[in-house]
Amino acid sequence: MILVTGGAGFIGANFILEWLGCGDEAVLNIDKLTYAGNIDNLAPLKSDARHIFVRADIGDTSTIGTLLKKYQPRAIVHFAAESHVDRSIHGPADFIETNIVGTFRLLESARAYWQSLPDDARQSFRFLHVSTDEVYGSLSADDPAFSEMTPYAPNSPYSASKASSDHLVRAYYHTYRLPTLTTNCSNNYGPRQFPEKLIPLMIINALAGKALPVYGDGKNIRDWLYVDDHCSAIRTVLAKGVPGEVYNIGGNAEMANIDVVHTLCRLLKEIYPDKDFTEQITFVKDRPGHDRRYAINAEKICTQLGWRPRETFATGLAKTIRWYLDHQDWLDAVNNKTYQQWIDRHYVQG
Ligand code: NAD
Ligand code: DAU
Repeated sequence: MILVTGGAGFIGANFILEWLGCGDEAVLNIDKLTYAGNIDNLAPLKSDARHIFVRADIGDTSTIGTLLKKYQPRAIVHFAAESHVDRSIHGPADFIETNIVGTFRLLESARAYWQSLPDDARQSFRFLHVSTDEVYGSLSADDPAFSEMTPYAPNSPYSASKASSDHLVRAYYHTYRLPTLTTNCSNNYGPRQFPEKLIPLMIINALAGKALPVYGDGKNIRDWLYVDDHCSAIRTVLAKGVPGEVYNIGGNAEMANIDVVHTLCRLLKEIYPDKDFTEQITFVKDRPGHDRRYAINAEKICTQLGWRPRETFATGLAKTIRWYLDHQDWLDAVNNKTYQQWIDRHYVQG
């Protein structure tokens, strides 16, 4: 079996659903269930014995050690993190605790377990660390896209905490030879994304007749990747990646935020022809330290491991909108008091 951390979150849940959809290897899912963790994401696996869920913190060394001994996973895929840049600006402490200290503790648990394995299991064991393109900092319009050789220059508490965890993972390979793999991916979107992030926030605000809050001039650029393509890249790296290596993952889909929002409004209008959602677009105060542009050069994973994204931004976005329209129950459950408190604090009070 494999151990997945953060498997009740957006990417982790999509990863587990797909993993068990295309094979029979069991998954031990360890998730603390923070505000972003949602066990409903895994509802289709409720009575599936191949999915074992344990609510725990990655930093709880004793519980993680016990679980590793009991279940003997052949790999750890580490998604668990605090993941929202705006929240890291309001309160960085949880980001330091989970992304840095938590990853350090998880590495220690993994190292102790790995060292106890027989030779062949030790050889084939993998620790795959899921990271972000934000560790590379911000590009200007003419800069080449981020490659695996781009120097780190994180600009937010979130990206600094992820950069720090990447360095720890690197050090565990070089110092202890723990067979690590690191992936640095661009912006994901798709089903089950918590509506604090741009695309789901815009979808639910548009449908609710609320403002569509675009930060600054709306010209910041992100490189979008449909979540299933990220998941297939992670499966590829886990199967074929070389220990100690880093792989950038991206969709070749750079877009300014304002264009993302206009595309969304256009796709929604095809479903609701009487409405003009663009009237709801509102420019609001910019995010402090807002990175201007991200772009990923994914040549290494494409040429060395044979991975390719399947969705274009247009096909992925249409699927995403459809999913949110078809899952009002999921949205109602997420749209609770804690969520409203975040929205009020961030968008109303600033
Ligand atoms: P998310 O916020 O939706 O989910 C994070 C999950 O981790 C939640 O289920 C949460 O309960 C769990 N978690 C948080 N702290 C924990 C702890 N201490 N112990 C155990 N579980 C804990 O995040 P996501 O968007 O699914 O991102 C997953 C990973 O992918 C993160 O490491 C993130 O940095 C990385 N990533 C995300 C994107 C993106 O666009 N969303 C892009 C590139 C990389
Ligand atoms: O690049 C990968 C990263 O992408 C991941 O590591 C992070 O976990 C993930 O949250 C995401 O970070 P971003 O900050 O790029 O994503 P977010 O959805 O928060 O914002 C995307 C862009 O949209 C960004 O330029 C800020 C802007 N934005 C965001 C929100 C929430 C707005 O204009 N208005 C908004 O209300």
